[in-house]
Amino acid sequence: MTIGNKFKLAAILNIILFAATVYGQNTGDKGINPVDKTRIDNLLKTMTIEEKAGQLTLFMSGWDVTGPKLDNNYKGLIKEGKVGALFNVYTVDYVRELQKMAMEETRLKIPLIFGYDVIHGHRTIFPIPLGQACSWDMAAIEQSERIAAQEATAEGLNWTFAPMVDVARDPRWGRVAEGAGEDTWLGSEIAAARVRGFQGKDYKAGNTLMACAKHFAAYGAPQGGRDYGTVDMSQLSLYEWYLPPYKACVDAGVGSFMTSFNEIAGVPSTANKWLMTDLLRKDWGFGGFVVTDYTSINEMVNHGNTENTKDAARQAINAGVDMDMQGSTYLDFLPELMKEKKVSMATIDNAVRLVLEAKVKLGLFEDPYRYCNKTRQEQEVMTPDQLAFARKMVAVSCVLLKNPKQVLPIPENVKSIAVIGPLGDSKKDMLGNWTAAGEWEKCVTLVEGIRSMVNDNVEVYYEKGCNTNDLDRSGFDAAQKIADKADFVILALGENGWMSGEAASRTRIDLPGVQNELAELIVKLGKPVAVALFNGRPLAITRLNNLPVAILETWFGGTQAGNGIADVLFGVVNPAGKLTMTFPRNEGQIPIFYNGKNTGRPYNPADSGAKYVSRYLDCSNDPLFPFGFGLSYTTFAYSNLVTNVNGGKINVTVQVANSGNRDGEEVVQLYVRDKVGTITRPLKELKGFQKVLIRKGETKSLNFTLTKEDLAFYHPDLKKFFEPGEFIIYIGTNSQETISKSVVLN
Ligand code: GLC
Repeated sequence: MTIGNKFKLAAILNIILFAATVYGQNTGDKGINPVDKTRIDNLLKTMTIEEKAGQLTLFMSGWDVTGPKLDNNYKGLIKEGKVGALFNVYTVDYVRELQKMAMEETRLKIPLIFGYDVIHGHRTIFPIPLGQACSWDMAAIEQSERIAAQEATAEGLNWTFAPMVDVARDPRWGRVAEGAGEDTWLGSEIAAARVRGFQGKDYKAGNTLMACAKHFAAYGAPQGGRDYGTVDMSQLSLYEWYLPPYKACVDAGVGSFMTSFNEIAGVPSTANKWLMTDLLRKDWGFGGFVVTDYTSINEMVNHGNTENTKDAARQAINAGVDMDMQGSTYLDFLPELMKEKKVSMATIDNAVRLVLEAKVKLGLFEDPYRYCNKTRQEQEVMTPDQLAFARKMVAVSCVLLKNPKQVLPIPENVKSIAVIGPLGDSKKDMLGNWTAAGEWEKCVTLVEGIRSMVNDNVEVYYEKGCNTNDLDRSGFDAAQKIADKADFVILALGENGWMSGEAASRTRIDLPGVQNELAELIVKLGKPVAVALFNGRPLAITRLNNLPVAILETWFGGTQAGNGIADVLFGVVNPAGKLTMTFPRNEGQIPIFYNGKNTGRPYNPADSGAKYVSRYLDCSNDPLFPFGFGLSYTTFAYSNLVTNVNGGKINVTVQVANSGNRDGEEVVQLYVRDKVGTITRPLKELKGFQKVLIRKGETKSLNFTLTKEDLAFYHPDLKKFFEPGEFIIYIGTNSQETISKSVVLN
């Protein structure tokens, strides 16, 4: 058969199948219906090896640069049918322009997928994921991803490289900003909520994004907290602490996975067949496709597990990695590798099939322009409702770390407020990192937010005072002057938006520059001072914490940052956020996390003089702020913790009273310690929480149930099972302040 006839046959087949599909019963986002399966089978029969390699190729458009390699002739290659997907592309016009190339200038007219890093919002930018995690509000987190998906799909996108679900216990690593913090169980809950938010119930709805669980695996545990660093841990630790959030994404139906840059125990993830095939597909049943991280195949040569990129491509495709992001290695080498019988056509076909199935599920074969709806782009982006929700998300992500003498909320009778600090009037920094299509010009700064809260007879002054990260003190005098004349001072301190995120590890994580000095100078004036802290990671703010100031953790709040923070500062919203990552006193304590082990020589505060115990000579073992910590403008009292065993379960009840003078939400946390196991167990493990509104003067009774499955843990043979025995149940307002009860479950 000549090429010309092949072309005609393919085109005819496609039209027939397209018509059939439109009337076929689609099976939703879970499976592929028989008609679509036939379409894919027939496409595979007609595709050349070059076209197949093309479907496994993801190129960047250059609208946003998120990695080292830049140059590729992506438009020319689209027309040759040698590109399967594009990223860092958005707006209806641009997506339509590129999709038309695929649909009108290629032999087989296979639609492209369009992806982007919609990490915490698309146009409406929400707080960074580490901040949203501190809301402990799964519904709110899911809703923010729902809105992100609505906006992103209104601008032509159908795939996001999120959620990032890497557990991280090292705040030197800048990418903690993108995740849910240090806890495996909470991280799994949040991972599932984010996948649900992005993908909704129906891939074909047109306003849902295919999600991408990343970075698989254990990218959050680099040695030294240095990005892209070596990861080396036992299989037991991998299973116990790092893998569950990825598995939670599979269970939530995530459509794709992304490999991580790092190696684990000598094997780069992108070449790790055990990880990508045996575990992910055979054990976990993942049915989507796997994309590499940015040129991570090419980077295997740097890792040193291969001599050249061609062999790296061989290793990756044979490991079960289906699509190459930006590296062009499949395009360049799969045809040769197949001819040399180093990669089977079956392996290549399987990868292509998974990519084509995703395109079917996204409805792209039915209508390649389904995400190119100008009306949606005009009407469904940055709407008042979306912005209102973003404002709420800012407030519920804030964590009140300190509030001596109830400095906050700002008194109603205040007549003048001085806002001082490099983050007070900075629109750009409010977005944080991974800002997607966010428009910094539309961000509300802290000063703007405060000004919008007060009436005309309240003065709001602003002075920068200093920069975030240099030694220039020339702004101190001007700052001191406005503090002098104000009733109340707000210090806007922290990191700039790019000191966290990818390729942004730091060895010193105190306030950078001369911000501590500025704070100490202002505090000397004796005015009430509250600090709004802007950061993408836990900071070792011991020096600041020694000052008599209130400290509100605000993260990077995104488009509505200033408004949401002002709602908390003025008491419109009573803060209820709780840290999902430990704040160390200093870098020497790192890694520091709440669910550590007792060791054979535990430090006992009651015997602080003991020498031969696990302690530092120069610092407490305790963090500055522990996991689960966060204050309220009211207070809560815990009592009447009762446990009983019934039907092989532990039933827990507790009473929580609002002992303060205003309504407030409390995240009531349930931790467990398994006293004895064949594998040593952590001192505490989060096993549940309830976020409840308790009116002032009200007492609520809360119930929790723990099953043997909840209490099971991995063993050296990597089997997870329960061991009977004594358990200590802890309930409290954070991982340190708890009431407890011992109970035996057999
Ligand atoms: C980056 C990041 C990854 C991101 C990808 C595309 O290097 O590691 O998280 O999704 O490239 O921008």
